[in-house]
Amino acid sequence: MGALKKKKIAVYPGSFDPVTNGHCDIVWRGLRLFDGVIVAVARNGSKNPLFTVEERLEMLRETFKDTPGVEVDSFDGLLVNYVANRGADAILRGLRAVSDFEYEFQMALMNRKLNKNIQTVFLMTGLRWIFISSSIIKEAAQFGGQTRGMVPDIVCEKLQEKFSKSSSGV
Ligand code: PNS
Repeated sequence: MGALKKKKIAVYPGSFDPVTNGHCDIVWRGLRLFDGVIVAVARNGSKNPLFTVEERLEMLRETFKDTPGVEVDSFDGLLVNYVANRGADAILRGLRAVSDFEYEFQMALMNRKLNKNIQTVFLMTGLRWIFISSSIIKEAAQFGGQTRGMVPDIVCEKLQEKFSKSSSGV
């Protein structure tokens, strides 16, 4: 009985440049399966990020400040090492469409090769977020498109700040 009560923790890794409502949806779905979800920003992730890691962490912390069971952190190096060091049980990733599958499959198998004790769990994003990605959000925002309702409010504000600065030459 005691063993059944062991707390299960998942690490939800990513670039989160920036966090979208699709990511939030995966965190909330993850919390229905796990006792805790660590949202972990990869420090050596995307090559040309719009936001610094610190800015991304700040937006994530604001987004999940009232969500019990969520911790926001960052990691360097191999994901499986971070997962093992945190004593977590699984890697959580979201799947939107078939196009995500090949990359996710490759990464999950590589991670399993690197550490066979860590499982990757995929959850399907809610249908309303199926078309949303950080890249498409950045592209829309860059050309003045409205992103409200697709990203947390704090992200909307930061995107506006970023692109109004760059268009005014600051
Ligand atoms: O949001 P993303 O960019 O799709 O996330 C990719 C991420 C950060 C999860 C992935 O690149 C990663 O895990 N990077 C850390 C290095 C690593 O362990 N890579 C996978 C095995 S080689």
